[in-house]
Amino acid sequence: MTPAPRDTAATESLLAFWRDAGVDACFEEAAVDRTHVQPPPALKAVVRATAAVVARPHTNEARTEARHLAAAAESMEALATAIAGFEGCPLSGTGATQSVFARGDPAAPVLIIGEGPGTEEDAQGAPFVGQAGRLLDRMLAAAGLTDRVFITNTVYWKPPGNRSPTPQEQAVCAPFVDRVCDLMRPKVVLLVGAAAARSVLGSDEGIMRLRGQWKDWHLPEGGFSVPVMPTLHPAFLLRQPQAKRQVWADLLALTARLDGSSSAA
Ligand code: URA
Repeated sequence: MTPAPRDTAATESLLAFWRDAGVDACFEEAAVDRTHVQPPPALKAVVRATAAVVARPHTNEARTEARHLAAAAESMEALATAIAGFEGCPLSGTGATQSVFARGDPAAPVLIIGEGPGTEEDAQGAPFVGQAGRLLDRMLAAAGLTDRVFITNTVYWKPPGNRSPTPQEQAVCAPFVDRVCDLMRPKVVLLVGAAAARSVLGSDEGIMRLRGQWKDWHLPEGGFSVPVMPTLHPAFLLRQPQAKRQVWADLLALTARLDGSSSAA
């Protein structure tokens, strides 16, 4: 049925409302079969559990492919090219327009790892270039770190609707993140946000507890270890500015360690 003109205007207005609210994708993780009656909750739980088990071999295969590609990349440029051509991460097919690899100096002493690209990062092809990124840059400048960082994320494609990446998506991309660290061999690593801490440290501990504490990151291959500091995400600071002092304390601890005036807490 052709919608009445009034309905079209209302639909457009509603879509504009959702777009302005940040909703930029309208699909879910998996296709939804709406031709069937909704199954009872118990059956839904079984279906979900089965889907997780069935999805695992795919994740493992994709991760294995990522590991091979990462190992073969002998430079940051080669790694960026390998990531751009990789189709094993589910996020590469859910609305992202391009892969978003890294920015900064690959020879810098500080590696910063965020969660995943957002809308502006997807548009520009570089991490942390939106509002949260601008705040991060201001804090790095105040700490004297502007030219001493290389910035990447735990996943290389924008998750739909700007949600956090899932552990499965992070697991597929992890060999690339490990390779960034191995090629760079930074002196310290800053993990920005709970999802970054979870992916790199494999810890489910809350970011409020983890932040400000030095941890060790041992790469699974190559024998390299590096001190890492989890901190709060700048997007969180935009909502909770009073938490900036905690991130500031973390950045001061990081620079002190970097410049040799402090040992691990
Ligand atoms: N948030 C992140 O964690 N990473 C980005 O690149 C942008 C926003």
